[in-house]
Amino acid sequence: MTSVTPGVPERQAARPASMPVRCPSQVCDLDVLPDGVVVTDATGVVTAVNSRALAILGADRDAVLGADARVALPLQDLEGRSWWTCADPYGGLATRTRISETLLALPGDREVFLTATLGRERPRGPVVQVVVVLRAAAARRRAEQKTSALISTVAHELRSPLTSVKGFTSTLLRRWDRFSDDQKRLMLETIESDTDRITRLVAELLDVSRIDSGRLELRRQPVDLPRIVERHVEGLVASGHAADRFVLQVQEPLPEVWADPDRVEQVVANLMENALRHGAGVVTVAIAGSPGQDFLLVRVSDEGEGIPEESYPMVFTRFWHSTRRGGTGLGLYVVRGLVQAHGGTISVGRAPCGGAEFCFTLPAGAPEHVA
Ligand SMILES: Nc1ncnc2c1ncn2[C@@H]1O[C@H](COP(=O)(O)OP(=O)(O)O)[C@@H](O)[C@H]1O
Ligand SMILES: [Mg+2]
Repeated sequence: MTSVTPGVPERQAARPASMPVRCPSQVCDLDVLPDGVVVTDATGVVTAVNSRALAILGADRDAVLGADARVALPLQDLEGRSWWTCADPYGGLATRTRISETLLALPGDREVFLTATLGRERPRGPVVQVVVVLRAAAARRRAEQKTSALISTVAHELRSPLTSVKGFTSTLLRRWDRFSDDQKRLMLETIESDTDRITRLVAELLDVSRIDSGRLELRRQPVDLPRIVERHVEGLVASGHAADRFVLQVQEPLPEVWADPDRVEQVVANLMENALRHGAGVVTVAIAGSPGQDFLLVRVSDEGEGIPEESYPMVFTRFWHSTRRGGTGLGLYVVRGLVQAHGGTISVGRAPCGGAEFCFTLPAGAPEHVA
């Protein structure tokens, strides 16, 4: 980040953190930094400012450079008190070298996170330079709000099956003798399906967290997509679905694809389960190579009512469902995350007969050629 002027020995550039870091523009290009930076001298006059800081402050360079920082940076805490007075960067403890991150307000209801480094020429000496780092808080505040919305949705999703499990087990324990075997069986079946739902929700949440944090591990190997789909269909038929509800179309030749077979099966399984649960009629899986054989294309379509076009942007978001049919609303979010982790893309559209059609791609080639 720091570009050193030719001729300045490197030893000089690497100063201990407690020493003042003078940063004239020819030594350090502050404009390449992603955060706003404002440097003030011993008297509180702004000696350097980068363009990110000017964007955050909504000010011109001419109005800030050479101005009194208290005027050019009218930072206030959330109670409306001036930061310069409260944090008192030039006063306070003589051992203080930095001011840790604080959420502050700028005029116009804008929020910023601020950190500052205090430069002293000698230990315990007066502050001769303050380097203020500003970061717009809107994005992080939005992320925090999203996280708390996610927590409340998860709590809500967990609560209803747990309430049912608790209710039925308590009833069975207290009034065991009053129910017939059929009634008991019905209650136990409900408990089983609700615990399955909780287990599934937790598994999906773990995948969501792996995807969001980029911790998803893929064990790539050459995959035979038609075989994966065939095996999955065999499983669905064995569990009671009519064999004539499934059609597999393969258009040879297919490019070689290196992917994680378990994750690819998870994608196919989710899309087919959706087609069965939310769609209707025959579920068709069509597999083909792209015209240049650089992608494998997989289409999963059904003959149900499909998804209204205005909902397309919502389909892959967390917890979205147009109808509540027992799902968690996380399936397609996870599916998209898994496809993207492989370097592929996924889209939703309408099948020729009107049902929903999901189309995903997987890049062709061995790992060194895939992203
Ligand atoms: N094949 C389909 N036909 C109609 N609607 C669908 C189809 N696939 C998905 N959807 C809609 O998208 C929503 C989100 O799907 P998903 O993320 O898998 O969640 P879930 O299946 O748990 O509800 C579903 O609730 C449903 O409303
Ligand atoms: Mg689903």
